[in-house]
Amino acid sequence: MQDLSVMDRLGNQLEGLCRVVGIDPATPLELLSGILGEHGARPLSAPPVWASGVADDHTPIEFSLAYNKTEPPALRILAEVLAPVSGVSENMAATFEFLQRYADRFSLSTHRLDMVRDLFTSDDPQGDFGLWISLVFRAGLQPEFKVYFNPELAGVEHAAEIVAVALRRLGLDSAYASMLGRAVRPGELGRRDRLTFFALDLHDGPQARVKLYLSHHDARPEDVARAAAAVDGVDPAEVADFCVTSGDAAQFDGRPLVGSYTFVEGAARPVGYSIYMPIRDYVDDDQQAYGRLLPLLGRYGFDPAFLNRAISAVTDRPLDNGVGLLAHVSLRLGPPRPGMTVYLSSEAYQVTPPRPLSVPA
Ligand code: TRP
Repeated sequence: MQDLSVMDRLGNQLEGLCRVVGIDPATPLELLSGILGEHGARPLSAPPVWASGVADDHTPIEFSLAYNKTEPPALRILAEVLAPVSGVSENMAATFEFLQRYADRFSLSTHRLDMVRDLFTSDDPQGDFGLWISLVFRAGLQPEFKVYFNPELAGVEHAAEIVAVALRRLGLDSAYASMLGRAVRPGELGRRDRLTFFALDLHDGPQARVKLYLSHHDARPEDVARAAAAVDGVDPAEVADFCVTSGDAAQFDGRPLVGSYTFVEGAARPVGYSIYMPIRDYVDDDQQAYGRLLPLLGRYGFDPAFLNRAISAVTDRPLDNGVGLLAHVSLRLGPPRPGMTVYLSSEAYQVTPPRPLSVPA
């Protein structure tokens, strides 16, 4: 067991997950290997060389199972591409190389990326990442790529302006202004409401999106309801209820709740909203998290069998043995694909012990 490499472990998990959603694992495995680079060959017993923020134990990958209202579930991975010698700027450069390598084969469209990428660089990067990617795998289709920039890379105080310039270049500034005014708590931008990710789809077409993510620290359900109400057609009560059911608190003072706003060209307002609950901070163990997910899946008409099989593909430990396998749960409202997503940590390096830590008698 000790001799397993990072690629062995993550590859096994990914293969199992592909089976759950009916996808040929060949391409996903090839992409995983490209993400890990030479770090993939390292033994799991050696500590990670880069403290990636993608997952709590610094695995640079997080899996997710995306349930969709109108089509079968998809498999996704969130990833930080690792440079041979890792660092925020080095990993960013490695990510651009990675995307370049696959651009032709997967018909990636980088023209919007090229229009804004200079804004999200810094000689003195702050925080733990500059650029992450996600890959979405659907049965019978080419993978879809998305990039996530860090708006706070040049410092928290510059984030709002950088995002404003980026959206202006993309012709989306009026939608941004209306959304910020309604979603951010008064006086809290850059304080308890933070611009966490600026995301772009790397494909063209009417559904190509820009997504802006706001993290709400110490938020109450009503704060999130207000933030969700910035998007037409979203029921704020439904969003608040999703948070209370999954997080079971009157104030979410652990890891922040995150909301995302979807912008598409030609729309004066955001067209979609998602809420992300870091459920692992609001439960004692994964069994409890699972117990909260079941009624939510039921409410939205999603088959828990997919989740059960996905969990089995990732781990064989009992759910009450740790916390954080079920890292986040999100609700996606509005186009292009409403549904619910469950995020699964690989726990390749470490399982977080359950809370509260048991005290010996
Ligand atoms: N691990 C980070 C966090 O929990 C980043 C992250 C991973 C994240 N998956 C996410 C953030 C899903 C929001 C939603 O904040």
